[in-house]
Amino acid sequence: MRKHIVAGNWKMNNGLIQTKTLITELKQQKKTSDAEVMIAPAFTNLWPAFEETRQFPIEVVAQNMHFAEDGAYTGEISAGMLKSIGIQSVILGHSERRAYFNETDEALAKKINTALEHDMRVIFCFGEELSDRKSGHHESVVERQIKNALFHLEASAFKNIVLAYEPVWAIGTGETATPEQAQDMHAFIRKTLSDKYGSDTSNSVSILYGGSVKPNNAKEIFSKPDVDGGLIGGASLKASDFFAIVNAF
Ligand code: 13P
Repeated sequence: MRKHIVAGNWKMNNGLIQTKTLITELKQQKKTSDAEVMIAPAFTNLWPAFEETRQFPIEVVAQNMHFAEDGAYTGEISAGMLKSIGIQSVILGHSERRAYFNETDEALAKKINTALEHDMRVIFCFGEELSDRKSGHHESVVERQIKNALFHLEASAFKNIVLAYEPVWAIGTGETATPEQAQDMHAFIRKTLSDKYGSDTSNSVSILYGGSVKPNNAKEIFSKPDVDGGLIGGASLKASDFFAIVNAF
């Protein structure tokens, strides 16, 4: 049985006080679903968030990291640094990183290797732009992103990989993929994995959907058989909305 996961990507939001306040509010919410819950605060708030959620079933994860072990990379954070404060998982390949910070599939493959070498879990994001979907190339774009970043790995590596399909046109726009569009793409992603690694591997990997998931549409999206959870941006910044989504499972 695949894990259900709902992860909140806080992006570049919340200072220290807001982080602590939001976590206090998250801890007051009632969880009625079997979904694993993750939150991804900014680097400066990872440690306080980690401390505030100790003994609580909320995993604190990073939004990014560098592929090098250490060295002259001003402004960057390594896997070892994240592990040293207890962080076990990292989001890699978010479309905002790709679009604004020129992250390529090749750089992402290196980051994934480093994270896996450190025994970290990777939440790997990918998704097509609006022009790709309009021109009917959405599947080939997603297939290329997956192949370039992941297909050098052994099947056994996928126990530490979560996939997050985030169509760029649905991120922060209020425009969600329809549940059918999400299901079709998730089934395509699973088939792409199955063709390379076999069905045991492809059926074991959780595939999250991200892009304007809100309390009022989460249930329908999560009801689809190949949608195993969500990566939530805007709605993860409000505790009651985030848990309404968590509890949509
Ligand atoms: P929104 O939920 O704000 O559309 O953001 C989605 C996202 O980018 C999560 O990583």
